[in-house]
Parts: sequence; C-alpha cells; structure tokens
Amino acid sequence: MKDSLFSEHFSISGQGHLTLDGLDLVAAAQEFGTPAYVISEAAVRQQCRAYMQTMKRVFGENFKVSYASKALCARFIYPIIQSEGLHADVVSDGELYTALKAGFPASNLHFHGNNKSDAELRQAVECGIGAVVIDCLDEIERLNAICVEKERQMPVLLRVKPGVDAHTHEFISTGHNDCKFGFGIEDGQVYEAARLLRACRGLDFCGLHCHIGSQVFLKEPFGVAADVMIRLLAELRRDGYNLRELILGGGFGVKYMPEDKPVPVSEMVEYLGKAVRESCQKYDTPVPEIVIEPGRSIVSAAGVTLYTVGSVKPVPGARTYVAIDGGMPDNPRFALYQACYDACIANKAAQAKTDVVTIAGKCCESGDLLGRDMKLQPAQRGDFLCVFSTGAYTYSMASNYNRLPRPPIVLVSGGRGRVVVRRESYEDLVRNDLQ
Ligand code: LLP
Repeated sequence: MKDSLFSEHFSISGQGHLTLDGLDLVAAAQEFGTPAYVISEAAVRQQCRAYMQTMKRVFGENFKVSYASKALCARFIYPIIQSEGLHADVVSDGELYTALKAGFPASNLHFHGNNKSDAELRQAVECGIGAVVIDCLDEIERLNAICVEKERQMPVLLRVKPGVDAHTHEFISTGHNDCKFGFGIEDGQVYEAARLLRACRGLDFCGLHCHIGSQVFLKEPFGVAADVMIRLLAELRRDGYNLRELILGGGFGVKYMPEDKPVPVSEMVEYLGKAVRESCQKYDTPVPEIVIEPGRSIVSAAGVTLYTVGSVKPVPGARTYVAIDGGMPDNPRFALYQACYDACIANKAAQAKTDVVTIAGKCCESGDLLGRDMKLQPAQRGDFLCVFSTGAYTYSMASNYNRLPRPPIVLVSGGRGRVVVRRESYEDLVRNDLQ
C-alpha cells in the first residue's frame, strides 16, 4: 500500500514486510531487538549530495556545507559526511570529542555554543579547530588569551541575531532579538564585539553567522536573514574588517507527516543564491563564502525507529492507545514540541491503515506519546511499529528516563544492517553509580 511508504527508500516485500533500502525491517527488529534506530546510509548520502551539488552549482567553489552534529552525533556519521565533502559543526566538548574520535579533521569543524567553557575553548584551540563562532563578549577575551598563550591565530565569526521570525516552534526559533544566542544589531552589541576583536592578535575576525530556527518550512525568512546579514557584513567591511565568510545556519524543514511539504533542497539553495547575490549587489559588496549548516535535513528522513507493540487499550469515549516498548527516552520530541510522526506496522505494511490510534510510550508520564490520532494498520501485541523520519534529534536527545537503556543504531548499507552503536546494557545503566 502506497500510504505505508514514506520515501523511495522504502518498499514492501512479497511477505508484506516494510523494507528500507532492501533490508526487511521485520527481520531487523527480530535480529537486533527493539527499540532500535535504523538509518539508511544511502539516504544520508543522497541528502549530502543534494546539498553539495546545488551549492556548487549556485555558489561555484566558494561555499561549505557543514553538518550540524547535534542532529545525530555518533562516530559512524562522520566518515559518511566527510566522504561526501561536508564540514561539520560541534556545540560542546562531547560533540568535538566524538568527531575527533571518528577521525574527522579538526580543521573542517567549527565550534558553536552560547556558554563555552574555558576548557572547551582550550580543547578547540589545541586540536586546531577550523573556527570558533563567538556568542558573547567575554568569550572574546577568554579565547584570545588562550590563542596568545599558544601562539595561534583562531579564525572567529560573530553569531548575530538578525531579528527574523522563522515561524516555527518557539523553543526551536533562534533568530529573534529576545533569544539567548548571539549579538543583537539594533542594540549595538555586534559592533561592540567587533571593536573588541580589532584589538585581539590571537583572533582573526573572518565572518558572521546566523541561524534563524529549526524545522522552517518557508524560504522567505532565510532571504530576509541573508539580507540583514549582508547589510551588516558590507558595513563592517567598510569599517575595515576583512570578512570573508557568512554562515546562514541550518533549519531547513523536513517531512514528518504525509501532508508536510518541505522546500526541496535545490529550490532552497537556488533561492538562497539569488537572495545573497541580490543583497550583495544592493549593498555593493563582493559575495562572501557562503556556509550552510543543515542537521535535520541530512539525517531525519534517513532514519526510522522500530518498536514492538505491547498493550492495545481502547479507552471508551476517548481514543485507542497502542503502547510500544520505548517512548520519550528514545524520542522526546512529542513531549517537548508536540511533534507528530507518521508510522506503519512493519509486518502489515501491505494492509490499509484503517485505524486511528494514539501511540503511547512506556514511561510514567501521560505526555509520553509519539503521536496522537494517527492512521495505522490494525495493531496487536507483538507487531513491529516503524516510526518514520526519526533520524534527527532522537538518539542525540535520548535519555535513560525510567532507566530504559538507549537503543542501538543499525546502519543499512547495501541491503544489510549492521550495528554501529550498540544497545546499552543494564550494566551501562549502573556504570556510574558509585554505591
Ligand atoms: N546551526 C545552528 C547554529 C543550530 O543551532 C542548529 C540547530 C543547526 C545549525 C541545525 O538545525 P537543523 O538543520 O537541524 O534544523 N531539538 C530540536 C531542534 C533544535 C535545533 C537546534 N539548533 C528538535 O528536535 O526539533
């Protein structure tokens, strides 16, 4: 049944099982256990290529695509994105450590974060990170002192709030003025930061950064942000700053529900190219190197989560709850953002979705759901539920709430699945307990 399929990477086997890039997801659930995250390497690569190819077509050689590690951070992802030519950003010492452990070149990383510790700044300098995106005034002095001591010069960018409303959930919207990230323009903070940078011989002020929010479905907010940033870039260049780079952030929306219509990558990048060129012309300044930082749109649709159905509980006069063996510890996005998902019973993929049910996790919280009133094939105990588009912000936001072990990640390549992150054991759960 076509309504069971989320993208061209899925199909239905002769037995009526859902497959991902040729891997039978029912067999995978049996072999690897549930819950389990399953990621298609081909789908990740396809998104990387879509960005790299259109950025090249639109911006020539003067661009970078930098994967936002926070969407899915584990060692296996870095060789994949590196081989596709992407750079990456990290926002903490933990993400930096993971990327370096995976052999990702430090020079192709940049460091974000609104409250970087001295230890993090020191690690960034010592490993030879490509750039640091400065988020607050005192970070300038702290980073400069480390660089002077180590006799290094660190490329830095200023994170700027372009004052743009990205029309997304308040908690994942970051470009407006009342937000913890970056420097304001109207309030003069960005100019003060630039003045401070002039005096820092350990820092090379090379560019500006903005990120307006996440899961954004419109093109226009990106165009408005690009215009604000290029106006500022031109102004600072006129004041003598040698700014070469403009990072326009990530946040490109993805499809979670069948009715979602994200802007295709090529359309978004072409729109950005036009917006950037027009603004550079308007403000009479050369086009800088343009960097984008997609996270979700690289990995989200490439991933599914497999669960086993447990109790199916019709609540008279309300709804039917289909309970699964995971929930908010492996995917907190419904609890945090009321995010909804599309799902399918993997062993009944050929059947029509005739039921409307609510998927409940197994935690002691009423808000532990993965979607409300969603269409599904008739579910019964022992079925395998496949939740689509869970490659981003699931494993990376997972917890051990209710002492549930984190699920494994199974990477599908060439029709075969292999465990690239193992399931946590009970022993892992008590590893740090000292008494
Ligand atoms: N660059 C910066 C500076 C960011 O803060 C983010 C995301 C990205 C790039 C990547 O955005 P993406 O392309 O993945 O939308 N936990 C939330 C999302 C938080 C996003 C935070 N920053 C969620 O599950 O929806």
